[in-house]
Amino acid sequence: MSTTSSPVKSAYHVEEFRAQFPILKELVHGKPLVYFDNAATSQKPRRVIKAESTYYATINANVHRGVHTLSTKATEAQEAARETIRKHINAKHAHEIIFTSGTTASINLAATSLGQLLLEKGDEVVISGMEHHSNIVPWQLACERHGATLKVIPITESGEWDLGETPGPSTPLREARSEVFTEKTRILAISHVSNTLGTINPVKELIAQAKKQGIITVVDGAQAIPHLKVDVQDLGCDFYAFSGHKAYGPTGIGVLYGREELLEKMPPWQGGGEMIDQVNFEKSTWAKLPFKFEAGTPNIAGIIGLGEAISWMNDYDLDAMAAHELTLLARATKELLTIDGLRIIGTAKEKVGVISFVIEGVHHYDLGTLLDQQGIAVRTGHHCTQPLMDRFGVSGTTRASFACFNTMAEVDALVAATKKAVKMLR
Ligand code: ALA
Repeated sequence: MSTTSSPVKSAYHVEEFRAQFPILKELVHGKPLVYFDNAATSQKPRRVIKAESTYYATINANVHRGVHTLSTKATEAQEAARETIRKHINAKHAHEIIFTSGTTASINLAATSLGQLLLEKGDEVVISGMEHHSNIVPWQLACERHGATLKVIPITESGEWDLGETPGPSTPLREARSEVFTEKTRILAISHVSNTLGTINPVKELIAQAKKQGIITVVDGAQAIPHLKVDVQDLGCDFYAFSGHKAYGPTGIGVLYGREELLEKMPPWQGGGEMIDQVNFEKSTWAKLPFKFEAGTPNIAGIIGLGEAISWMNDYDLDAMAAHELTLLARATKELLTIDGLRIIGTAKEKVGVISFVIEGVHHYDLGTLLDQQGIAVRTGHHCTQPLMDRFGVSGTTRASFACFNTMAEVDALVAATKKAVKMLR
């Protein structure tokens, strides 16, 4: 699953990628844009931008509703994108791909509907201490609604799950099972990759343990999809949530993959058009999958754009992209650590190209502002992971997150600009 051990392919042509992203020609404060905020949202290649505008310019119509030509074409384009996404994550059926507005909506759907189906007073939901707020709060709400308890896997100093044993061939995660899961545990909801730390979590192993106890598993894959080859059947998860916009696709579109058997049993989470079979004032019945979970007119352009982003990634080598990002991470890690008082938050062995750091005597907002003046875009703050910030005893970090189009020269620019800023701020 992890791509971290892939050899760096010498044939990686970063300029070829850069040329496809129109925004990289922009100047910020008169300086060439250095975009290191890909974990917040990635930039979009021309192909994705064009796919959306071509839809609006040539086949814009509502889907699954009309017999007219445009509606048929729009429906076909949307359903072709669903199939592209199914194939990409190796779901068994296209109707297991539910379109939502993003990872947040996907997890809210899962938490609300699964909560209604599964949770009773005294039950437990397990998450980890490195979750994004969008994989905490929906479960808190579900627990409150049904009288269940939220349990949290603690995080080690290096930014990995603390399961009581170091995962490895001789100390498998089964050792941890009794500490993490009890007979009351119904749902495990975990991130595949941490947005703040970059840690790639051993989700497959923990899912296998959960499944042995009949626990339903939900994976937040928002930060994994842009970097890793994800195979939901190989992972063995019941649900996998992600967004388009972090994976070179449009904003406002996301996916919830769900196993057919569970989706069939789950109640809808939103009502409206498209999700019904029959409506009368006494009782309504639901449409078949995936439409039972897709109330209202979907983000058709976004779906088509996401399909194009996934096709675009598949035209290249995702392993090579990830390996390139890891060379950037290695250089950034080495060079940033030469700065006096700099501490990296998140030093797991298995990481994607994300680096979070704090510097003694320097506030992350001030650093972010000075970097922006050099044209360098990073994210500052708690990254929607306040409990994780508390765990590390910091109010926030500065985070650089890499994509296939970033260069070593840009990393050097980040390091130089950080050094300059530190001199000014101390
Ligand atoms: N979840 C996004 C981030 O990590 C917004 O920046």
